[in-house]
Amino acid sequence: SAPSTLTGKDEVSRHRTLQDGVWVTFKGGVYDITEFVAMHPGGDKIMLAAGGAVEPFWALYAVHNQDHVLEILSEYKVSVYLNISFDYARSLNPSDPFSSDPERHPVLRINNLKPFNAEPPPEILSESYITPNVFFFKRNHLPVPRIDPESYKLTVEIQGPNRERGGALSLSLDDLKNKFPKHTVTATIQCAGNRRSDMHKAKQVKGLNWGIGAIGNGTWSGAKLRDVLLAAGYSPDDANWARHVQFEGLDQDVAGTTYGASIPLRKAISEDGDCLLAYEMNGEELPLDHGFPIRVIVPGTVGARNVKWLGKIIVSDVESSSHWQQNDYKGFSPSTDWDTVDYKTAPAIQELPIQSAITVPADGAIVDRSDEEVTLKGYAWSGGGREVVRVDVSIDGGKTWKIAQLKSSDKEQTAGAMAPPPGQAWAWKLWELTVPLPADTEEMEVVCKAVDSSYNMQPDSILPIWNLRGVLSNAWHRVKVKIQE
Ligand code: HEM
Ligand code: MTE
Repeated sequence: SAPSTLTGKDEVSRHRTLQDGVWVTFKGGVYDITEFVAMHPGGDKIMLAAGGAVEPFWALYAVHNQDHVLEILSEYKVSVYLNISFDYARSLNPSDPFSSDPERHPVLRINNLKPFNAEPPPEILSESYITPNVFFFKRNHLPVPRIDPESYKLTVEIQGPNRERGGALSLSLDDLKNKFPKHTVTATIQCAGNRRSDMHKAKQVKGLNWGIGAIGNGTWSGAKLRDVLLAAGYSPDDANWARHVQFEGLDQDVAGTTYGASIPLRKAISEDGDCLLAYEMNGEELPLDHGFPIRVIVPGTVGARNVKWLGKIIVSDVESSSHWQQNDYKGFSPSTDWDTVDYKTAPAIQELPIQSAITVPADGAIVDRSDEEVTLKGYAWSGGGREVVRVDVSIDGGKTWKIAQLKSSDKEQTAGAMAPPPGQAWAWKLWELTVPLPADTEEMEVVCKAVDSSYNMQPDSILPIWNLRGVLSNAWHRVKVKIQE
């Protein structure tokens, strides 16, 4: 369809294929770049931006910060961009509990729309050490609550051995920002269900079908949880009875049940634990999808305990009674099925095991024999502050291995310069390896596996770690690549 002089978000987002036309937005303009796609010097990556804004991609691919790029783009301008969306479904159904969910980037692959669960295309993950906010995976169990930062209050309660202690500390957002020192921690968050689709392929599981993108690396700033607990009156004597720190979210279902989780007290109170009550993500105000105005960051710990839209903290002798602490996010034997599963028998997942995955090339990618070599990329991370010390990569299905180069920033590194203190390696490493194309075959099976500082390694296959919920999916990651003559 021909664009009108003013074009809104929804109309742009309907132009995402060569067939429907490929539109992008840049600042105040809408551009029909359908004809440019085949001429793009960066290849079909350009299609990632189809139907949405190019800015987030150009922040990653800085080659575009040149006048001649803007000149090319200007030739394709078709309309003025009206940066708002008019969602018919929402306007027709104002009682939809998800009507206050925020806008999301169209490149995200949606696993579930309501509640919103989506992950970025894998290649974006390895494009920058810090995952930009718009591309960070979003995992919501409930509608996104809209919280007024002016009236926001965080309640902190220390329960006492018989849960008798009354009184609680109440903190405003200003209190959290101004009465406590600001700490910044770079930490990777991974969902327990990351790579569930690999497990599902091996044998059916129940859960959202995440690919390898339910993970991201962020720089989080906020007050230290430890400082806030001490301000609320926590004293070392409380360690005699206190075992857990519970968190309650302000997101709720129709019955008023809120999201909740807990972590071991030791992690919460430890100076080295680096738990934060974060109000910034990558230098920006915490986005709505990621827990505005406050979320807990529990470095090294499964995403589920990093409670967003935090309303309440409780120091207790018991774990959170929340469904997500008690009856979800637990691991089981491959022999456990839906008739025999007893959630009480398994501990809640806290620290996650060693993980790695190949982000580039994608499974099924085709490379040209004339390229002679191919660059393989991916990420590796381990829970509990254990540092990734090595990533082994194979291009023959795991028969022989090469050691990948590890990066813990986007800059070239001098050996050892950036190493975190032992036990506090909260952030992932990106890895890279360039290999010559093998002469004797038309198909490569690329495999990666990581090793952490405790010499934990990933299992080679999925079935022995299969579990009915499809969590903790961390077998060697494999992708097949065709070599075209
Ligand atoms: C390179 C234009 C979108 C990825 C380039 C170059 C131009 C260009 C002119 C060559 C720059 C130079 O070498 O001086 C455009 C235009 C776009 C667009 C007009 C409008 C939508 C994108 C997007 C991505 C992307 C969305 C990624 C998601 C790349 C890459 C290269 C490149 C990776 C470098 C290729 C190389 O290695 O030489 N683009 N681009 N481009 N572009 Fe884009
Ligand atoms: N906190 C609240 N309040 N509600 C939620 O649904 N999801 C949890 C956790 N914190 C959730 C939450 C899960 S399962 C994960 S994996 C992470 O948030 C995802 O964080 P992200 O959406 O910022 O990537």
